[in-house]
Amino acid sequence: MTQPQWADVDSYYADLFMEEDETLHATLASSEAAGLPAIAVAPNLGKLLRLLLQAMRARRVLEIGTLGGYSTLWMGKALQPEGRLVTLEAEPRHADVARANITRAGLEEIVELRLGSAVETLRWMVKAGEAPFDFIFIDADKPNYAAYFTLALKLSRPGTLILADNVVRKGAVTDAGSPDANVQGVRRMNELIAAEPRVSATAIQTVGQKGYDGFALMLVLF
Ligand code: SAH
Ligand code: DHB
Ligand code: MG
Repeated sequence: MTQPQWADVDSYYADLFMEEDETLHATLASSEAAGLPAIAVAPNLGKLLRLLLQAMRARRVLEIGTLGGYSTLWMGKALQPEGRLVTLEAEPRHADVARANITRAGLEEIVELRLGSAVETLRWMVKAGEAPFDFIFIDADKPNYAAYFTLALKLSRPGTLILADNVVRKGAVTDAGSPDANVQGVRRMNELIAAEPRVSATAIQTVGQKGYDGFALMLVLF
């Protein structure tokens, strides 16, 4: 099995199953045109995020790491009109691209983009007594993943789902001595998860157009 084959299978299922609309295509195109890195979720993970939100009838969603708004759109369109999605982004250039994409998709009333370092924004949200979220997607800088998990838990309620992207990193996650700060960041989060009695977690390895990676899914226990 090789990368081209993984990408072929992703395309096969994307063609069959993914209702990738014009605004999703436009979001990727405008992100590429603006020179943003090509690290948005694959369509099949975007669709999984949407299905999870629909299954739990999520009304309040928190996204950590907006980029050009591709995953934001997959999730935002799964919410009821009275639903809210708060998305956190540190790069003003990414935020500008994302805002245009959110507006093009007609989601400006549903999505609120908060610009700034996500750790600071999250601390501020906890202090301000922000209502808990139904679903939290962790997808920003990996060295801060442990902090994001800790803060996400403070913004959760029993039944909240937390999904953390990119926790396999071509398999490097098992290398305790890795010099890669991204790997070490994911490992620190994993140790917190393992020691946290309030969550139950799994991790799924994935291959596809984005290569070999994976995500962790956690349920905040009742
Ligand atoms: N969720 C997006 C991809 C996010 S890529 C999608 O799937 O479409 C990660 C994003 O996190 C980048 O836009 C990057 O600028 C942002 N980021 C990196 N460090 C950050 C920080 N400390 N606080 C907030 N955002 C950060
Ligand atoms: C990277 C970040 C992501 O969120 C992703 O999905 C893939 C790669 C990165 O920083 O390399
Ligand atoms: Mg990611």
